[in-house]
Amino acid sequence: MSSEQHHDMSKMQMNTKCVHFGYNPSEHHHAANPPIYLSSTFEFDTAEACADAFCGKPQPGQCNIYSRLTNPTTNILELRLAAIESAEAAVATASGIGAIASTFWTFLKAGSVLIASNRVYGCTYALLAHQLTRFGVNVQFVDMTDLKAVAELLNKFETVDMVYTESIQNPTNDVVDLEEISKLAHAKKARFVVDNTFATPISCNPLKFGADLVIHSATKYLIGGIFTAGAVMGSADDICKIRFIGIKDCTGAVIDAALSFAMIQGIETLHLRVKCMSDNARQLAEFLEKHPKVEKVVATALPSHPQKDLVAKYLSIPNGLFSVYVKGGIKECQAMMNKFQLAYRAVSLGKTHTLVNHPASMTHSTYTQQEREKYGIADNLVRISVGCEDAIDIINDFKQALE
Ligand SMILES: Cc1ncc(COP(=O)(O)O)c(C=O)c1O
Repeated sequence: MSSEQHHDMSKMQMNTKCVHFGYNPSEHHHAANPPIYLSSTFEFDTAEACADAFCGKPQPGQCNIYSRLTNPTTNILELRLAAIESAEAAVATASGIGAIASTFWTFLKAGSVLIASNRVYGCTYALLAHQLTRFGVNVQFVDMTDLKAVAELLNKFETVDMVYTESIQNPTNDVVDLEEISKLAHAKKARFVVDNTFATPISCNPLKFGADLVIHSATKYLIGGIFTAGAVMGSADDICKIRFIGIKDCTGAVIDAALSFAMIQGIETLHLRVKCMSDNARQLAEFLEKHPKVEKVVATALPSHPQKDLVAKYLSIPNGLFSVYVKGGIKECQAMMNKFQLAYRAVSLGKTHTLVNHPASMTHSTYTQQEREKYGIADNLVRISVGCEDAIDIINDFKQALE
């Protein structure tokens, strides 16, 4: 592919961007796969070129200093990540929590006010509730699906530094009204940060609805559940700050070049896996919704989802993960989980294998029982991340597990 042909890539559709964006074989000895630059440091032609690079004005071909800052393989990945989230720029990280912590370290300080959703991934909650607060950040939790409550909380403060949510909340699978929350956040001049892990860039691009930064636990759908990695996408200015303050100086949550290569490979099939998981999730959710041992199912694929309008507005395809409320409590959930023969009893999501998690005793055990009750994380909730197996086999596994 010539350089001119590659230049046109920004006009291509999402699926094409997933496969090609950011990599031009003609610039890399025509290798069909990007090379892995396993080098911690980079050599300069002259001392002046070193100085220029350190001033942020690198000479042509002399822009890499050290792999904690930039790396040529990671650079290909970051171009692709930015393209699929419709962002100006992206920075890849060693994990999703690395991406979240690096973002917090960059933009918050002692005395900052951070308003966060009360239903988020358990370790994000621990970081917000127990760690950031140790450094003097005023963290306030709110139900992000309650616009009135969010507005009231924001109005209690003269300035708010950040509003943080997941686009589809963990583990309840409810959808946040991103456009409305972004208006409320911006009225207070707060940065609006959205973890888009559950939705994936294939289904939703929060930046188009007013988010300032989008975060991914790339461990999940982007890589396909094989390795741990993360990413942040947003304006070139914000991403530069996260790279040079949050990651370089604070967390060091830097991604390795081999891992960047793995994520590039993962993104090449992202659109296929997301569609397959979405379709399988719909079939399994339809089956479970009618099952006598199931109290209710909250799945964006089902017409019964309590926020049908928001699902239609924000998700181009339903997500492949959903919540099932089993009749009974922890005992009944565990009885079902112990019988799985195909699905894995495991945390995480977006993997090709179907994964079943009991949030109250697993991912969300970082919340106290009281907090879970207050925020609607029920004991009888089971979170299912549907994989790429055949839907018939997944349904049969659930059928026998519920017998
Ligand atoms: C929604 C969400 N965000 C962030 C994370 C943290 O990502 P990682 O495990 O890659 O650090 C997770 C992990 O499960 C998650 O589910």
